[in-house]
Amino acid sequence: MGDMSKIRNIVILTGAGVSAESGIDTFRGANDGRGGLWEEHRVEDVATPEAYAADPGLVLRFYDMRRASIQTKQPNAAHLALARLEAEWAGSGRGAILIVTQNVDDLHERGGAKRVLHMHGEHLSAWCGACDGRMEWTGPLIDRPPCPLCGARALRPDIVWFGEMPYRMEEIYAALREADLFVSIGTSGAVYPAAGFVRHAREMGARTLELNLEASQGSAWFHESRLGAATELVPEWVEEVLAGDEAGG
Ligand code: OAD
Repeated sequence: MGDMSKIRNIVILTGAGVSAESGIDTFRGANDGRGGLWEEHRVEDVATPEAYAADPGLVLRFYDMRRASIQTKQPNAAHLALARLEAEWAGSGRGAILIVTQNVDDLHERGGAKRVLHMHGEHLSAWCGACDGRMEWTGPLIDRPPCPLCGARALRPDIVWFGEMPYRMEEIYAALREADLFVSIGTSGAVYPAAGFVRHAREMGARTLELNLEASQGSAWFHESRLGAATELVPEWVEEVLAGDEAGG
C-alpha cells in the first residue's frame, strides 16, 4: 500500500457494499446473483422529490419498509474493523480519520464508529417540511405522524433523493484536501459527487485505495484496487494500517 509512515490523515468513503454482508441489498447488481434494489424499484418512482410529490404514500411505504428492515440487521466485520481503526488511529495521535458514508443505515455507528458523515441522509432520521427540523425516527411515517417539534404532519424521510444536494459537502471536501490516504470501500462509483472524491483526493496529493467486490467505474483513478468481500478485505487492510502505524510510529 506504500509507505504507511507518511500517512497522517485518512478519509474513508463507504457504500452499499460495506453493508451487503449484513443482508442489506445493494443498489446496483449484487454479490450473489440477486438483483440490486434499483432493479426491483425504479429509482424515479421512489427516490426523487418528484416521486414524493406525485405519490407520497408509495415513497413513504418504501422507506418505512427499508427503515424497519435495517433495524433487524447487524454490523459485520467490515464495520467493526473501521470502528477499531477510527479508535486506534485517533488514540495514536497520528492524524485525523473520517468515515464518509453514502449508506443510510446506521451500521457504522452500531459497529462502534463515533464520527460518521452521512452524505445521503439516514433512515433513522425524519425531516419536517414545515419547520425544517430533523429528529431521530425509528417508526413508520405512512400514517403521517405530527412533527414532535412543530406539530405539522409534514415529516419525510431524511434521505437525499436524486436531484437533491448531498449533506456535509464542505466538511467532506475540506477533509479530502487534507487527506494523505483516501480509501473507497464497497461503492460502485456510479453516483456523483461521491464518485468524484477519488479524483479530487488524488489531485490534492492523496494516495488512493479501493476495496470492492469488483472494479468500480472509477477504478482507473485508484493507485491500488483490491477485489473481494468487504468482511475479508477491510479487516485485513485495517490490520496492515495499524501494524504500519506501530512500525512507522
Ligand atoms: P451500489 O449498489 O451502486 O454499489 C455497491 C458496490 O458494492 C458494487 O460496486 C459492488 O460490487 C460492491 N459490493 C457488493 N457486495 C460487496 C461486498 N460484500 N464487499 C465489497 N463490495 C461489495 O451502491 P453505492 O455505490 O453505495 O443513493 O450507491 C451509491 C448511491 O446510489 C447510494 O448511496 C444510493 C444509490 O442510489 C441514494 O439513495 C441517494
